[in-house]
Amino acid sequence: MTGEGGRQMDEEKRERQRYRRLKVITTVGPTLFVAVAETIRYFYLRLVLPPASVSLVAVLVTLVGAAAFSSYVFSEVERIEQERAAYKDAMMALRERERLAREMHDGLAQNLAAINLKVHHLRKLVDAGKLDQAREELPGVQSAVYQSYMEVRQSLYDLNASKRLTEGFWATLKKQAADFSKQTGVLVRVEPLADNQEPWNELTSVQILRIIQEALTNVRKHAQASQVLIEATWQDQEVAIRVADDGRGCSLKEGPDRAYHFGLGIMQERAQSVGGRVEFDSKPGRGTVVTIRLPLGKGGDRGGKSKIVASG
Ligand SMILES: Nc1ncnc2c1ncn2[C@@H]1O[C@H](COP(=O)(O)OP(=O)(O)OP(=O)(O)O)[C@@H](O)[C@H]1O
Ligand SMILES: [Mg+2]
Repeated sequence: MTGEGGRQMDEEKRERQRYRRLKVITTVGPTLFVAVAETIRYFYLRLVLPPASVSLVAVLVTLVGAAAFSSYVFSEVERIEQERAAYKDAMMALRERERLAREMHDGLAQNLAAINLKVHHLRKLVDAGKLDQAREELPGVQSAVYQSYMEVRQSLYDLNASKRLTEGFWATLKKQAADFSKQTGVLVRVEPLADNQEPWNELTSVQILRIIQEALTNVRKHAQASQVLIEATWQDQEVAIRVADDGRGCSLKEGPDRAYHFGLGIMQERAQSVGGRVEFDSKPGRGTVVTIRLPLGKGGDRGGKSKIVASG
């Protein structure tokens, strides 16, 4: 994380320098241009051309100069914006990679180490002819193997979210919810927007699916819930997608602590990358609600046709 922090500071410094340079150029450039043009006009053009032609040349030179200057400034700003977007994507990928490594270390690697120990122990029992005792130990080993299998499946599922979008957002989400229910026994209901609207592009779809996936992973890991409701509604010009569980909840202090927990931070980054935000609301004993808010409709049709889907 320190490497990431350092890189972020470097990038911010570079960006500030680029803007400073642009500021100097936009301040000094036009003044210099006018000064040179005026000098040429006064000391040369006015002596060799009639006044009407001098004025015409001055107008033309000003037009060409202004167009070239404005195109330069805009292309510079565009370049800075593109670099910033590419950098953000790269940082997000890096954070995900770090998270995956940490997940593998905390989950998979530790589970496998425990399984190894258990199997070693089993072997000793079998060698010693203590078959009844070995049989008793077997369910523990089986459950540890299953746990590791789940971890791997979950990580692959997260990584492949974008590949499953061919059937549309809501169908994909319902399938994701059904898979989660099958794996965990937690009932998940999905209430889409009216008429199954998908008022966003594919990139946003992928980000929403991944945020919901992380919220469901948290339900599996922390909530001890029996039900989850994923419900989308229009609220003024925003779409709100709530992921509400009926589990044990947590204190807000516990929730957004980013020193050791990255899930909520990554959810927020994902939402922000598509212009939205995530709210986390939880109380001990009262369940948890993660709300993704996406400001989408600037007036127009979409807001007008919107309809609040009845909550369950
Ligand atoms: N649905 C939930 N029910 C109960 N507690 C939750 C729920 N979601 C989050 N929490 C609490 O909020 C904390 C932060 O969640 P977050 O997803 O950021 O981290 P994490 O799940 O602990 O680790 P990771 O970085 O692997 O996601 C969790 O450790 C947990 O205590
Ligand atoms: Mg988490």
